[in-house]
Amino acid sequence: MNRLIIISNRVSAPKDSNSGAQGGLAVALSAALRENGGIWFGWSGDTVEQFTGQINFERRSGVTVATVDLEEHDIEEYYEGYANRTLWPLFHYRIDLAEYEREFAGGYQRVNHRFADTVRPLIDPEDVIWIQDYHMFPLGQDLRDRGCNNRIGFFLHIPWPPRRLLNTLPEAADLAKTLFAYDVIGFHTQEWLESFRDFATQDLGAELLDGGRLKLGDRVVHALAAPIGIDCKEFVEGANSPTARLAYRQMRDSSNGRDLIVGVDRLDYSKGLEERFRGYERFLETHPEERKEVFLLQIAPPSRATVESYQKIRSTLEGLAGHINGAYSDVDWTPIRYVNQGYPRDQLAGIYRAARIGLVTPLRDGMNLVAKEYVAAQDPEDPGVLILSRFAGAAEQLGNGAVLVNPYSAEEMSDAIVQALRMSRDERIARWRPMMDNVEQEDVIWWRKRFTDALLDTAKAETAAA
Ligand code: G6P
Repeated sequence: MNRLIIISNRVSAPKDSNSGAQGGLAVALSAALRENGGIWFGWSGDTVEQFTGQINFERRSGVTVATVDLEEHDIEEYYEGYANRTLWPLFHYRIDLAEYEREFAGGYQRVNHRFADTVRPLIDPEDVIWIQDYHMFPLGQDLRDRGCNNRIGFFLHIPWPPRRLLNTLPEAADLAKTLFAYDVIGFHTQEWLESFRDFATQDLGAELLDGGRLKLGDRVVHALAAPIGIDCKEFVEGANSPTARLAYRQMRDSSNGRDLIVGVDRLDYSKGLEERFRGYERFLETHPEERKEVFLLQIAPPSRATVESYQKIRSTLEGLAGHINGAYSDVDWTPIRYVNQGYPRDQLAGIYRAARIGLVTPLRDGMNLVAKEYVAAQDPEDPGVLILSRFAGAAEQLGNGAVLVNPYSAEEMSDAIVQALRMSRDERIARWRPMMDNVEQEDVIWWRKRFTDALLDTAKAETAAA
C-alpha cells in the first residue's frame, strides 16, 4: 500500500496510545498510519502573530505528525466560526443555531489555502491523500489547483443534511462542487450518502453513473458509505487490562448494588444530553419503585468552550442535573453523577463493563463510536444493554441488538430504561451477540481498507481505460 498523507484539522495522534479522553477517530487514524506509514498533517492547536507556514515535525507513538500554527483570527473565523458555528450545527440539522457570516466563509477559504500551500511540498507523486471532515471540504480542490494529481479521498465524519436544510447555506452549491475534485468521498451511513446524492443530482445537476459514481462536468467522483469502527481487538485487550479491572471494581463498589446507567459524550448539543436528562427524569418520576435501584453516570468533557452555543448547553445541563438531584436525591442516594472530565480509554472500558445500561442518545450523529466501545467492553456471559438513538449513524449497524429510541421523546427513553432493567440475561446475550459480531468484523481496519481500496481502485480503473 502506498504511503498515506492524512490531513485533518486536529492532529490528535495520541502522545501514547492510551492517553487522555481519546476520540474514536483519532484512535482509528493513528492505527491506519502505523500500518501504512506516512504523515498526519494539520493545525498544531497553537497560534502565531503572523502565519509563516513553518511546519513542526514530531513522532507520536509510531506516527509522523506535521503541524502548522495559525493566526488568532484564522481560528476565530475558520474553526470557531465557519466550522463550528456554521457547518457543525447545519450538518446536525440545527439551522436554528447556524450562523451565516461572509467573514467566516472567507476565513475558512483562507485557512484551506494555507493548509494547501503548506502541505503541498510534503506530497510525493505516489502518495495517497486522505482528507478528513468538514473543516476541509475545499482542500482537495485547493491541492488540485496547486498541481497535485495524486489520488485524493475525502471522508465526512458528520451527517450530510437533507438538501432542503443545506440550501439555507448561501455558498452550499460552491462548497459541494469542490467535492468533485476528489476521487472518492466517504460517509458513515447510507442515509448521509443518499442525502449527498440528492444534493449533487438535484441542486448541482450531477449525473448518477453506475457503481456509486457521480459525474459533474468532466469530473467523476465515487461516493460511498463506509461505516467507521473501533480497534476492537485493542479495545477488548484494554477492557481486560489491570486499569480496566480496577475501574470496574471501583465502580461496582461505589454502586452499592445499584444498577449503573452510563453516558459518555463530548459536551455538545448534538449529543442530546438535555433530552437524555429529561428522559431519565421522566423515568424517575413515573417509576418511584426503581428510584434507589439505579443511578446515571454522565461523563461529559467540555468541548469548543469559546463558542456560545456550547456555553449555553453547559449551563443548561448544570441547571438540569442540579434540579434532578435536588428533586429526587435522598441522604444515601444521588440519581445523577455528572462529571465534566475525560478519562483514559482503559478506565472507560472498565466503567462500561460495570454499566447495566449504555445510554447513547444523540439527536443526530455521523456515527458514534461510544456505542461500539460500550458493546466491545461487555462481559459475554452477562452483557449490559445498549440504548441507542435511531438518529445515530451507528443505528444502521447496531439496530439488530440495541434498544432503539427516539431521543426527543422522554417517554420512549423512560420506557427503554425500564425495558433494559427488566431484561433477562438470555435476552441480553441474544441482543449483544450480533452487535459484537458487527463491532468485531467491521472494525477500524476494515473501514480503512474499504475506503483506501476504493481509492486505489479508481487509479486502476483509470489505467485500464488509458
Ligand atoms: C467530531 C468531529 C471531529 C472533531 C471532534 C472533536 O468527532 O467529527 O472532526 O475533531 O468532534 O471536536 P474538536 O472541535 O475538539 O476537534
